[in-house]
Amino acid sequence: MTGAEAVQTLTVTDRPPSIHPQFLTNQDFLPMLPFQNAVAPDLSAVNDLIIKELHSDVGLVENIGHYIVDAGGKRLRPILVLLTAKCLEYREQRHIELATIIEFIHTATLLHDDVVDMSDLRRGRPTANAKFGNAPSVLVGDFLYSRAFQMLVRLGNMDIMAILSDTTNVISEGEVQQLINARNPSVTEADYLTVIHKKTAALFEAACSTSAVLAGVGETQKQAAWQFGHHLGLAFQLIDDLLDYEGDQTTLGKNIGDDLAEGKPTLPLIHAMSQTEGAEQALIRDAITQGRLDHLQDILALVRRCGSLDYTRRKAQNHAAAAEEALSTMPDNEWRHAMMELARFSVTRTF
Ligand code: IPE
Ligand code: IPE
Ligand code: MG
Ligand code: MG
Ligand code: MG
Repeated sequence: MTGAEAVQTLTVTDRPPSIHPQFLTNQDFLPMLPFQNAVAPDLSAVNDLIIKELHSDVGLVENIGHYIVDAGGKRLRPILVLLTAKCLEYREQRHIELATIIEFIHTATLLHDDVVDMSDLRRGRPTANAKFGNAPSVLVGDFLYSRAFQMLVRLGNMDIMAILSDTTNVISEGEVQQLINARNPSVTEADYLTVIHKKTAALFEAACSTSAVLAGVGETQKQAAWQFGHHLGLAFQLIDDLLDYEGDQTTLGKNIGDDLAEGKPTLPLIHAMSQTEGAEQALIRDAITQGRLDHLQDILALVRRCGSLDYTRRKAQNHAAAAEEALSTMPDNEWRHAMMELARFSVTRTF
């Protein structure tokens, strides 16, 4: 088969029949998360712009782009841009573009992440790599990154460009560092925190701080917005890693146990190893070294008994509280209230 024929067979024109209910975000759908209400019209404008900017003359790019984007997702990062802009009393419209840019960067990381993690379920449906293959997923991820940067140039704000180019670079470093740490049971809690900061919290920081730049606020409020994103992002990834052990696959829309299958030393395992010795510790060490799911149930029981899931949740709750604290210097309005609700959601979420 020639390359062109291979690509032809990968092209789909039909949309998947069933969409996971809580991932619906099209404009006909009433916002379901309380903090979305505060920016509902803006979020609808972001969804329109996402669709418009997915345009490509190459059909497969659009098909894969729509495949992942139409499945929804929580749109947390664009919501963060919108809430921060409104909270900081921004009165123009360019936050819609900024929010779209950030969701494109996020979507690109997801396309690449599912290839790297060999995941086959996302947003309640097969991942793009499961449906179309690794190569098209990686290449469409590149398309989305570069579309985000085209839009960034159009936005024309050098400070925002600097933050987002640094952020994209840091996310890549975080993903590579995580790859290096995989199958290594000696990874420490500090090593783990460095990775989750880079791969996840950095984009939350960028969403909030670029929005503050757009709003033209002073250094104190810019810092407050950055701090909010920082703590929220850490809380969010801590819970993501917890849900990989105790989440419900249908609710989450992703497979449970993907991290263990890849031998990822995330906080639940790092903590459980620090609380055990001998055969019990060896069970976890071996599972990480081999990256196997065979003993998932035994490991889950051990991790529960050691209080490691509670430990991870407590860490996340502390960061969510620090995020709320960072809001105290920002204007007290309905958008700040919604940001507080978002911080709470980050640690109570099941999807
Ligand atoms: C998934 O992020 C990637 C992580 C940083 C854990 P989300 O859980 O925000 O993904 P969607 O966009 O809602 O699907
Ligand atoms: C995702 O981390 C981080 C990025 C996408 C950069 P995960 O690998 O834990 O995310 P999920 O669980 O696949 O969404
Ligand atoms: Mg993953
Ligand atoms: Mg990953
Ligand atoms: Mg995960």
